[in-house]
This record gives sequence, structure tokens and C-alpha cells, in this order.
Amino acid sequence: MKFMTSEEIRQSFLDFFKSKGHTILSSASLIPNDPQLMFTVAGMVPFKPIFWGKIEPTYPRIATCQKCIRTVDIDNVGKTPRHQTFFEMLGNFSFGDYFKKEAIIWAWEYVTEVLKIPEEKLWVSVYKEDDEAYEIWKNEIGVPEGKIVRLGKEDNWWGPAGPTGPCGPDTEIFIDTGRTENCPNIDNCSPACDCGRFLEFWNLVFTEYNQDDRGNLTPLQRKNIDTGLGLERLTAIMQGVETTFDTDLFQPVIEKIESIFSVKYKSNPEQDISIRVIADHARAIAFMIADGILPSNEGRGYVLRRLLRRADRHASLLGNKRPFLHKLIDPLIKKMGSIYPELKAKKELIEQITIKEEERFLDNLERGTKRLWQMIDAKGKLNGKDLFMLHDTYGFHVELVEEILNGSDIHLDKEGFLKLMQEQKERARAATGNKEYDDVSTLIKTLHEELGGTEFLGYEMLETRSEIKTIIKKGVQVHQLSKGEEGEVIFDKTVFYAEKGGQVSDTGILETSSGVAEVLHVYIPHQDIVLHKIKVIDGLLNKGELALLKVDVEKRKATARNHTATHLLHAALRNILGEHVKQSGSLVGPERLRFDFSHFSQLKPEEIMAIEETVNEIVLSALPVTVEEKDLEEAKSEDVIALFEEKYGDKVRVVSISDFSRELCAGTHVENTGEIGLFKIISESSVSAGVRRIDAITGKESLKYLRKLTALASDLKDVLQVQEEQILEKTLSLLQELKGKEKEIKKLKEKLLSGKTSANDHEFSIDDVKFLVRIVEDAPAELVRNTADVLMQRLGQGVVIIFNKQGDKVIFVVKVSQELTKHFNAGHIAKNIAKALGGGGGGRPDFAQAGGKEVNNIEKVVNSLEKYVRA
Ligand code: SER
Repeated sequence: MKFMTSEEIRQSFLDFFKSKGHTILSSASLIPNDPQLMFTVAGMVPFKPIFWGKIEPTYPRIATCQKCIRTVDIDNVGKTPRHQTFFEMLGNFSFGDYFKKEAIIWAWEYVTEVLKIPEEKLWVSVYKEDDEAYEIWKNEIGVPEGKIVRLGKEDNWWGPAGPTGPCGPDTEIFIDTGRTENCPNIDNCSPACDCGRFLEFWNLVFTEYNQDDRGNLTPLQRKNIDTGLGLERLTAIMQGVETTFDTDLFQPVIEKIESIFSVKYKSNPEQDISIRVIADHARAIAFMIADGILPSNEGRGYVLRRLLRRADRHASLLGNKRPFLHKLIDPLIKKMGSIYPELKAKKELIEQITIKEEERFLDNLERGTKRLWQMIDAKGKLNGKDLFMLHDTYGFHVELVEEILNGSDIHLDKEGFLKLMQEQKERARAATGNKEYDDVSTLIKTLHEELGGTEFLGYEMLETRSEIKTIIKKGVQVHQLSKGEEGEVIFDKTVFYAEKGGQVSDTGILETSSGVAEVLHVYIPHQDIVLHKIKVIDGLLNKGELALLKVDVEKRKATARNHTATHLLHAALRNILGEHVKQSGSLVGPERLRFDFSHFSQLKPEEIMAIEETVNEIVLSALPVTVEEKDLEEAKSEDVIALFEEKYGDKVRVVSISDFSRELCAGTHVENTGEIGLFKIISESSVSAGVRRIDAITGKESLKYLRKLTALASDLKDVLQVQEEQILEKTLSLLQELKGKEKEIKKLKEKLLSGKTSANDHEFSIDDVKFLVRIVEDAPAELVRNTADVLMQRLGQGVVIIFNKQGDKVIFVVKVSQELTKHFNAGHIAKNIAKALGGGGGGRPDFAQAGGKEVNNIEKVVNSLEKYVRA
């Protein structure tokens, strides 16, 4: 057995299985195309539909090195030698091709001849009823019977991944580490013993059953092979180290952690836990973000956030207070970037997201921890309200609280917490609920039971005749509406698109033999019943009458242009900004489209331009827009955007624009992208942290917009008296000129204010001291102070007072030359004058400033100034 680097091991595995006729594929995303799973938890996950028989295999044999996330044992990470959340799994797969015999023979060959692990160290286990596997190990390979153990379902059965799916018995290969110090029964120790001596490293699964949701097993159409060999574990074995964290896979990251926090790995067992947690979580975080996951409060984003906060908490135990995860990305890329190019490609994104997220959380971590201990000190437990507060105010997940309490038996009322969380959710729902729908709900439910749903014909036609099944006015059923009245009408079938999926409702006209009504709004208050909010504009509308329903065609067409453009925008955003872009809301109407999506920073002008160009390119290519009705299951197995989370009926509509875009969508679309016309983004803004908004226009609105701009340019041309190309130049030069003039005006004002004599000057002496009083209007404060200095210079010694009238107020300064401050105190003088003017203020003996409200008294005050000076 020789030392091998992780790179050599990975490559040797793939090379070996290539030599056995396998096609080598690169790792699939951590986000599985599988509604049953949150993450890719094993190498087989990308192939689950093939094992299941839902998709035909392109290649009969495949081998991969697959990146995986498993979070079930997250609490153990850091504390044990081998638990990780992110790991790589080497695997070879057969889809109805080879089976048990080849799988076992090749595994043995790879282990003993390529890796050269000595045979005497190897043991195997088989499922207790799997005689076939047992015989192969015994007869084909020659493993002594004493080293083949038969175990039960909990040890030697794998799958399904998720609640239902392919599964089967397995056989596992173990290495004997020779460590018997923890074994209670050395003489009988075997892989069945959990003393830790035998380390399992390769699992060969014979995937031949489907398990349904009741646990029943039925044979799959093909017999398959799925093997899983954990790269980190194998590397630890090949490098003769005790834990996966001691392998070269972790080394660069751990070294960086040591240098950031000035700690030494393996010098303090408590610190080592934190170092291992950070090293593991940093890898998971980086790979998750690289695959398009963003921190959030649910689903994958929640797991990401939880990992990040846990890493931050452990960093704080090492004395850290600043975002640091971004510093670990470079060493990670150095080690794994050539195998996983997405790390390099998304480096900036990973760094930005972690910095932002950490900045937010670190602020709270210290305060929240303090608060947590205060509450525990006060009452010895945390009730639901406390946990809710910690979550709501400081972002502390319950798991984080548990970890901070570190296994102590302090009681946490998790149930109470969950109840409060639920209530909060309901409040939020109620707050955004539609009042209109609430009011009619009981009546509508009954009507739905009586009348059934409303059939929608509006994909194919824009006009139809339909019977008025009932009329509702202010929440009660009526027989008739007359001119001027408003109400809601229900038909058995309609061509009006009801508001849903971000697309606004159609509007239009209803005509009966007795009257005409305007259709103002169409919506679905309950299940599949459609309400038409109408206003009668002529004659009468009667229950039971046949009506002609006519959709406003122009409006529908404009909306369709915007809806198809929204799909193009979504696809362009993902192409240009990355797969992390996910729709978080949209509004499609006839005038414009609005699209909200997850992204971490403001879009750069060149990004906006690239998006516009991409969308317009597709418009100009005049591609057909196709709509297919599919079973939800079928759509799920394909690469369709925005799926799984949404609740659709059994049949779904898949809207495709060539290979460029495929989305599940109930909306109405154009038939060809050429109909969209010019697509123009008119604004890009922020909605909330991590969510951006784009507003855009198409078709006739783009023309309107262009006309508006052209008219503006034309007006500017006229006003500025230049050609269009010179508008900017001319404006800049005018601004420049204006600036120069402003400067000049300022100078002139200064000159004027501090000029030799002024009509509003009063000069006199008191006790042989010269007084100069000047009254000005609306002068900037700074100018007044400067003027006081200038006048004082001119006076040599004396007192300068300047009154500055500002509307119905007056502000004034008093300046006394230094030598005279013993006799005349500027502060006192200012105070006295201010009193006389109904105000206040004061200052130093040589300079003071004050104000008053009685502007009309200024002259009087000046005339009897001696009084105030002496007072
Ligand atoms: N699916 C099995 C496992 O994850 C073998 O790849 O262990």
C-alpha cells in the first residue's frame, strides 16, 4: 500500500472503471432534479429515474465522482473523525448491464491491485439472505468464510433515496484498522461489532427493487448496480491518517483557518472541534452557493444559512468577530478548482454572499448569546416565546441555541416555538390575503359545490357564448343587475383569463340580448371557480341568459407579449448572471412586466445591456413558442424551470421557446417570439436583501417609450438651439458656465457686503470706542462672519455688529476687538440685544451670535444701542 494523493485516488478510480467499459461523467449539481430530495445525497441520485425505469439509460455503465451533501449528522460534524456534511462519492453504476459478480470482482481488483490494500486487512459483509453475493465472495474471490459476515437490513440494505424508489441489498467492504483498544469482545470482533476497529469504506448496492410509500417491494424492470466509495474516507486510509480532516483534501483549508485565527490544529481538543466544523462547513457552503443556492429561511437556503451561522459561531469561539469564510475560498479552489470548475467560476459570488450574510449575523451573534444566557440565568429554561424572540431578533435557529447550550439539560420548549412560528406564518398569509376573496368565501364554496368549476377556453379562442349561471351583488345572489350596477358573474365556461401566476386578468365585454356589461376583473376565489367582476353599461343583465363573452384582444396580446418576454428574461438572467437566479415574484400586465429574482448585487450597466441583447436576439430569431400539456410526473423528469415547489393540477403546461427556455406556466403567450417586438429594460432596483427587480416593456409600449425619448430630445434641441448630437456637450458647457457665474455672484456679494460704506451702516462712538453697525439681508452665515472680520480690520479697534434679516427673523453677530473685551463683552451685548428682539443667544467675550423674531425692532435697537451695550 503506497501513499496516494486525493487527486491520484480520484483519477485512478475513474481510469479503472473506464478500462472496464464505463463512461465517465462529471459530477451533477448538489440540487437534484428530484422533488423528493433536498440535496444530492449519493452518487446514484442523478440516475434515480434510470434505476426506477422512468428514463432509458443513454449509457449502460457509468462511473462518477459525485459531490454530495448530507446533513442528518450535522451535530456530529467536528466531534468525530469522519462525519462531514459535504463529501465526494466515487461510484460505478450499471443499468441492467452487469450485476453482482462483476461488481464484486472489479471492486476487489481495484482495492487490492490498484490501491494495493493488503488482502489480509479486508473483510466484507453481505445481506443475511443474499447467498448469491456470499458465494461470489467465497468462491470467486476466495475471501475466507470467517471474514464474510451476514448482517440484517439495517446494515446491508440501501435505499430508497427519498420516501419511495429504487433500493436493494448491498455488500460492504471493510478495512481492519487493528485498533482493538475499545473492543469489549476482542475474540469475536468483526464488522458486526461497533467498537470502531472495522472501517467500512465501499458499499456495493444491488438495486433491484422499487419500494412504494407503504414499504412494499416490487422488482424493478432492470437489475442495477450502484456503488459508493467515500473519497475522504478512502484518502484517510491511503494516507495512513486517523481522520478525514488529516487528509490532503482538508489540509489547505485547515492551514488557512490556523493562520486567520492564529490557532494551531491539534493543540487543543476543544479548538479542534471548531476548526473541523469550520473546515467542513466552508466546503459545503462554497459548493452550495456555486450550485445556485442562496441563504434563506426555508428549504436548501435554510440549510445553507444554518451551516454558515454554525461556522460563524465556532469562529467566534476562536475569537473571531469579522466575516472570514471568503478567505477560505482561495485555498479551496486551489485544491478542488480543477475538478469542480464551478468553484472558480462562482468565486466572486461565493465571497460576496458569505461576506454579506456573515456581516448581518455576526452583529447579532454576540448580543443574542448574551441575551440567551441572561434569560437562562433568570429562569433556568427557555420557553417558546424566548426561542421565538431569539429567532426573530437575532436569527438564532433552535439548533444553534441547542449547540450553544452544548448538551446541557436546560429545557427548551420547541413545541411552543414551532406554534409561534406557525402563527407568524399565518399572520403573514392573512396580511397578504385578498379581501375580495375572503368576503365571498362561504357563498362561493356552496356555489362551487352546486355549479362545479369554470372551464377555461381562452387559450384557443377570445370569444364564446356562455350561460350566466348566477349573479352576485355585495355577497348575495341576485337575479338581475341594471345599468350602472356592479357585481360578479359566474359562467360554466369562459374565455377570460383569471388573474394567476403573476399575469393580470383579462378585461373585456359581455353582451346579452338585454344589455351590455364591462368585464373589469376576473379572478379565482376558490379551487377552479372563476368570478367575473362586471359593471353594466347598458340595459339589464339576467341570470340564466346566454351572453357573448369578448376578451379585449389588444390588451390580451400586449399581456402575452410581456409574459413570453418574462420567460426570455428569466432564461437570459440565468445565462448571464448564473443559475442562482431564481424567480421570486412577477407581475405581467399589458403595459409592462416586472420580474423579481434572487441575486446578490445591483446589476452592472453592461449586464443589463447583455440581458437586453440576449432577449432581443431571441425575439429577432422569431422562434416558435410551443405549449405542451403533460403529466406533472413527466414534466418533473425533464429540465423544466420553476417547478416542484408550485402546486399544479395533474396536467401541467410546459411552455418552451426552442432550447432557450422551458417553464411550467398556465399563462397566455405569443405564438412566435417575433411578435414581442422590442424588449427594453426600463429599471433595475432592489426589493429586499438579495432580491432584485427588473421592469421592462415590449411591443407598442416600447414604441411609446421611444417616442417619449425622441420628443424629449427634440424639445431639448429646440431649447438649447443645437443639433441632437450636441445636446450633452451643450448642457455640460452650460452647467460649467453656470458654476462660474455662481462663483462670481458669491464674490460680488462678498464685495458688496463688506464694501466701504453701505446705506444701512451706522457709525458712532461710546466712551471713545468706535461702533460700526450694518444691516444686511439674506446673507449666508459664513459671509456675515467674514464681513465682521473685514469691517473690524478696517476699524482697527472697536465693536462691529451685523444684523442679517431673513424673512421674519433676524440673526446677528457681535464682534469686539481683543483689547476691548475687558470693557465690552460681545456675549453680554448679544444677549441684551437678543432679548430686545424677542430671541436668545450668546457667545465668547470677543465674538457672539444670536437671533430674534422682531425684525421691525432692529432700527429701534440700533438707535438706542448704548442702552444695550451698557446694560
Ligand atoms: N447509494 C449507496 C450509498 O450512498 C451506494 O452508492 O452508499
